[in-house]
Amino acid sequence: MAGEFSGKVAAITGAGRGIGDAIALRLLDEGAKVFSFDLNAPDEPRDGVTYLTLDVGNPGSVADAFRRIDQDAGQIDVLVNNAGVQRVALAENMPIEDWHLVINTHLTGMHLCCAEAIRRMRARGRGGAIVSIASAAGIVAVPGRGPYSAAKAGIESLTRVYAVETAEAKIRVNAVAPGSTRTKLIDEGLRNGSIRGEWQIERIPMGRLAEPWEIADPVVYLASDRASYITGQTLVVDGGWTVQGMVHIADWLKPAPPAE
Ligand SMILES: NC(=O)c1ccc[n+]([C@@H]2O[C@H](COP(=O)([O-])OP(=O)(O)OC[C@H]3O[C@@H](n4cnc5c(N)ncnc54)[C@H](O)[C@@H]3O)[C@@H](O)[C@H]2O)c1
Repeated sequence: MAGEFSGKVAAITGAGRGIGDAIALRLLDEGAKVFSFDLNAPDEPRDGVTYLTLDVGNPGSVADAFRRIDQDAGQIDVLVNNAGVQRVALAENMPIEDWHLVINTHLTGMHLCCAEAIRRMRARGRGGAIVSIASAAGIVAVPGRGPYSAAKAGIESLTRVYAVETAEAKIRVNAVAPGSTRTKLIDEGLRNGSIRGEWQIERIPMGRLAEPWEIADPVVYLASDRASYITGQTLVVDGGWTVQGMVHIADWLKPAPPAE
């Protein structure tokens, strides 16, 4: 299919559902050949996506997945590090297994996939684009999310380091930091009571959660040639959550409502 990514090959981690699935749909629409690296089977398989089942935190499995891309597609142009998992507890109650799981999935997973992709992009000499999913929770403090927030802040840091390491090879490395987005990750938090709907909305100036496509669009932009001079950056896509210093606006400051 003709499109901005026709002739290009993309690997997306965690594309079996949620934000990763939305990114896969956008890249497919733009003509990319898409590989998904996910621990679980997809909720709704998409025609044109090759679904590989693996743990992004496992070096051997990640290396095997990239070898599969070598065999099937012969190149890798775009990597999106999106796979994620959440475990919620205060520092003193955080099981060490949960700490390792969250750090391993987000941060080690990003590193392992970047290393495999960068090696191939450099060797081919045509550059490439890497976009990783960070989080607003890596920028502001969300209680109970110690390993998640640290891993997400680490993703921003690795983004800068790998951007500088690879710039001369025409590889661009960026991140998108979403705010609360309507996916099953959030549904799980609502179910287990670690978040409440009203807690989320009251802190978001736009007054609503993001839809997965609203995160996918900026990811696809950063992966595209339209972002040819952008590298080492994190684009925050959070409806204004992290820039808000004060939640309330005095009544007398508010503009009059629009005329009927
Ligand atoms: N939903 C939000 O509000 C929100 C906000 C900020 C950042 N994020 C981040 O966006 C990304 C996608 O989140 P989502 O909301 O779509 O979550 P989701 O739970 O709906 O999807 C995550 C996907 O990652 C896969 N996955 C988990 N561990 C894996 C592993 N070790 N190896 C391979 N695949 C694995 C899951 O099977 C799942 O398909 C995550 O990195 C998440 O931290 C989400």
